[in-house]
Amino acid sequence: MCSLFAVNTSKENNMKLKVLVLITSIVSFCVSPAIAQMGTESSAANTPRLNTTDRFIPVIARNGMVTSREKMASQVGVDILENGGNAVDAAVAVGFALAVTYPQAGNIGGGGFMVIHLAEENKSIAIDYREMAPSGADRDMFLNEDGSVDDNRSKYDVKASGVPGTVAGMVHALENYGTMSLKEVMQPAYDLANDGFAMYNYLQSSLNGRKERLMANEAAGKAFYKADGSSYNFGEILKQKDLAWSLKQIMDGGKDAFYKGEVAKRIVADQETQGGLITMEDMAAYVAVERPVIVGEYKGHKIITMPPPSSGGVHLVQIMNMLEEDDLKSKGHNSAATLHLYIEAMRQAYADRSKYLGDPDFTDVPVDELTSKKYAKLTRALIPTDKSRRSTDIAPALNILAESPDTTHFSVMDSHGNAVSNTYTLNFSYGNHKMAAGTGIMMNNEMDDFSVKPGTANGYGLLGGEANSVQPRKRPLSSMTPTIVLKDDKPFFVTGSPGGSTIITVVLQSVFNVLEFDMNAMAALAEPRIHHQWMPDAVIIEDGVSKDTKDILIGMGHTIMPMPFALGSLSTIMYKDGIFYGAADTRSMDAAAIGY
Ligand code: DON
Repeated sequence: MCSLFAVNTSKENNMKLKVLVLITSIVSFCVSPAIAQMGTESSAANTPRLNTTDRFIPVIARNGMVTSREKMASQVGVDILENGGNAVDAAVAVGFALAVTYPQAGNIGGGGFMVIHLAEENKSIAIDYREMAPSGADRDMFLNEDGSVDDNRSKYDVKASGVPGTVAGMVHALENYGTMSLKEVMQPAYDLANDGFAMYNYLQSSLNGRKERLMANEAAGKAFYKADGSSYNFGEILKQKDLAWSLKQIMDGGKDAFYKGEVAKRIVADQETQGGLITMEDMAAYVAVERPVIVGEYKGHKIITMPPPSSGGVHLVQIMNMLEEDDLKSKGHNSAATLHLYIEAMRQAYADRSKYLGDPDFTDVPVDELTSKKYAKLTRALIPTDKSRRSTDIAPALNILAESPDTTHFSVMDSHGNAVSNTYTLNFSYGNHKMAAGTGIMMNNEMDDFSVKPGTANGYGLLGGEANSVQPRKRPLSSMTPTIVLKDDKPFFVTGSPGGSTIITVVLQSVFNVLEFDMNAMAALAEPRIHHQWMPDAVIIEDGVSKDTKDILIGMGHTIMPMPFALGSLSTIMYKDGIFYGAADTRSMDAAAIGY
């Protein structure tokens, strides 16, 4: 019997008992007031519920939530919700605001994907506003005469840009599913560009890191640095007058102003001066497309996610299907046994990605097969329990993510139960680092997401083939994975992340952390993550996974590469019993979940 609870307590045991009582009262006194109020016992609706053992606490709100990579933009979304807008209104406002306050990835010169769930109709929608290759693009446009790849051209040349899709995507979402006018939702972005905002830590550091490349482009240099070439310091006001002009054109003239009107003219004039391919016809031909969402079924939940031309949804569902029968919880979170299964399932998915995925308007993508339970069973059966497999046909030392690029994700939920999950990007931070003169618009370098030559890796070390070759008006394959998990047909977890090739595996682990390991919204983000993408044949493991676990994995034959960067930046919202739990990634300076 434990001596502390012995009936005939000795003097020493009495002392121990007193100490225990003292510790317990100190703990209950010191526990943050927020947690102290959250009984795990209560099952009442509208009562915030966390465990008293939780080490990571999400932001809690009762009426709605916006989580994004930058806090002024999150606040813009919350203001829209508070003024009666729905989740789509707020998402569109955040999309335009991030183009101003987070110019490395927020954009109107890039593209992305939006997944929406509408409560009233119980309907889910996927909007594809991915960039399209200009009509003058061709399969070998990034090859040198000797057939080798010109690495710089697909990443930093003016020809690296596809026709931007963001304005079409935002306007499509708003016109079909929003309730407010374009003017109303764009006004905050316009004000932020025209009146300026105070330089904040992350942007200051990002602009310092990219100064040389950005200054090489006259318009970008003028927009982001002072007239004497010096940088804006923390707290100094950055105004973007040219960007304000572009936003005003769109507010007044709708998407036509961007695709056919004055903004298009300036973008195209800049392309002509610099030797780019985008013409007025290319701009006018751009369309955002609604595509059927991918719906995965996982242990009673629906996984609503993005179809091609993103590979994200296909492989998220594929990997989840492969591991559905495995009792991950009993194997343990981030145990060697669990991580081994993650790695092997990821390896299979990224191998498939390299062969089968591309723009569905140009190539038949076997979505149903790849996301079927049958295929998952067959491929799961090939995973050995105790040893790693090798990725075949290894190309030498592919270097994933040589740049430190940037995309951005935001999640919105409103009080009606509508949810929006949106990921958009310029590809690398600041795209090709070129601004279309007179517009304030940073242009994307999304052409690098095509497979510029079969067997040659893109900026993320991803391999691809014919399905993702460059063709006029084609959309490059993406890994962006905006996702909404439904429980009883209602949004339960809204998730998504940047991270290039790592997006799929980062989103996957957020979903598993919630569904398999019962973590709260913040803990699900804070835990260390891993990533394997078939090639190169090595796994990235974030700090925080124990040395013993890594040693076991090495013993099984896995190769661990030095951690080059933290994996992803999730912006998520969980909704449970009438309460919104928001979480911005612990890895991201100046990101914010804001509720009301
Ligand atoms: O579409 C894609 O998969 C890439 N262009 C995403 C780029 C990205 O996530 C960069 N961010 N870290």
